[in-house]
Amino acid sequence: MPSRPDLVRRVSAACALTAAAGLAALAWSSTLLGEYSVMTMGPAGALGRGHAGHDAEAGSGAAAGSTSVTELVADPLRKPDVRIRLVAGSQTIDVPGGHPFQGYTVNGTSPGPTIRARQGDLVEAVFVNESVGAGATLHWHGMDVPNAADGVAGITQDAVPVGGQHTYRFVAEDPGTYWYHSHQLSHEQVERGLLGAVVVEPAVPSPNGGSTEALALLHVYGGQHTLNGRALDEHVPAEPGSTVRIRVINTDQGTASVWSAAPFRVAAIDGREVKAPAVIQDRSVLVPAGGRVDITMQAPAHGAARLNVGGARSIFIGSMTGDEPGARQPSATLDFLAYGSPAPLGFEAASPDRTFDYTIGRRPGVIDGRPGNFWTINGRLYPDAPMFNVRQGDVVLMHLRNESGEVHPMHLHGHHVLVLSRDGIPAKGSPWWIDSLDIHPGESYDVAFVADNPGIWTDHCHTLEHAVDGLVAHVMYEGITTPFTINGRAGNHPE
Ligand code: C2O
Ligand code: CU
Repeated sequence: MPSRPDLVRRVSAACALTAAAGLAALAWSSTLLGEYSVMTMGPAGALGRGHAGHDAEAGSGAAAGSTSVTELVADPLRKPDVRIRLVAGSQTIDVPGGHPFQGYTVNGTSPGPTIRARQGDLVEAVFVNESVGAGATLHWHGMDVPNAADGVAGITQDAVPVGGQHTYRFVAEDPGTYWYHSHQLSHEQVERGLLGAVVVEPAVPSPNGGSTEALALLHVYGGQHTLNGRALDEHVPAEPGSTVRIRVINTDQGTASVWSAAPFRVAAIDGREVKAPAVIQDRSVLVPAGGRVDITMQAPAHGAARLNVGGARSIFIGSMTGDEPGARQPSATLDFLAYGSPAPLGFEAASPDRTFDYTIGRRPGVIDGRPGNFWTINGRLYPDAPMFNVRQGDVVLMHLRNESGEVHPMHLHGHHVLVLSRDGIPAKGSPWWIDSLDIHPGESYDVAFVADNPGIWTDHCHTLEHAVDGLVAHVMYEGITTPFTINGRAGNHPE
């Protein structure tokens, strides 16, 4: 596999050729990456600016006593509390209310089965690839699983070939709404349905309530906007006055809106409860691609309240007699920067050990032999993207900035990230923890997280076509290595 300097040499050789003789075809083939390890990505010594002299010592690659990602597992001796077999297939998906769609299923349907666990349960999912030709994996979006269970082909495992299987084990530590999806050729496999929901019930009921609950998994199958796999509205029966929790999961490639003419609250964002959420009226709630919100709503005394999810579909809450007319979508949106009440954070965000820039831009170039107008990170083109080297226990501050002209839903694996400020305005509501954050053109966000989950973690755009086009970087812990490679014989293509 080529080393980091090899990669750089190939790219510069390609540029020289193009300039000299316009030998475009030759230039493209010179930029072919071949088999490579994620560990070779990023400019050498791309260290965060930190205190405490970390910079001088960290990032020296495979240090003595290095640990493979395969060793970062849940307790192997513990018996699973939830055991599920998930079989991926390539087949025609029946879309009730719409047209059949050629895609991917889990246990015969898309979305696949909803996995339910209680907080603290050990989940063991045996994943079998029956007929997904290019191989497949499962990634647990938003769940801070041990790195070996992260499901990223070429980084934490090989793609599971047809006839193969792979076992994922993790403790469902944090209650909330999550989802799973393939992380092999994810731009194609997620879009075509290789996904499902995960619900982790809290050990202690949330003060935000919602004893009756329903899922609202949004996905577009070949242009058909669906709610839980059907191109139809849904009804959730509920006693008048009771609180219903709707778990909205946006599995699509762009932002989804949620709104209602009736009052509602956002009880949770990306699997974290909001502290003291206020009632929302005349506001749309925006859910980034990959993101989730739990909405709570009261069933009305008569009829049903209508919650519009994702624009095309609605959920009716209450008795079936109601025929609540559709409300116009409020143009004002809810700002999570100032929603709910402050609460203790549990870490010192004000004194980070590392500070990184993640600035998104765009320019023409060639990636792996493919010419295009690609996304850049800190001005660099994939695979020259920055490597964010951290050490376990670090408090990490990241400045996210979007200078690319399009919105990007940014997603870091393995960690929950706290929003500190947007465009210099500090967050002042409930702690806004995210795993998927829309960054609009011209915006900048300061976010922070605690490096408490060792591994090599992807930090990418969840408009998955953008990830293929270069919008992917990694957070790598000191001393962690991976035996897996991208583009090699195992055919790993994480994006
Ligand atoms: Cu939902 Cu890297 O993914
Ligand atoms: Cu993007």
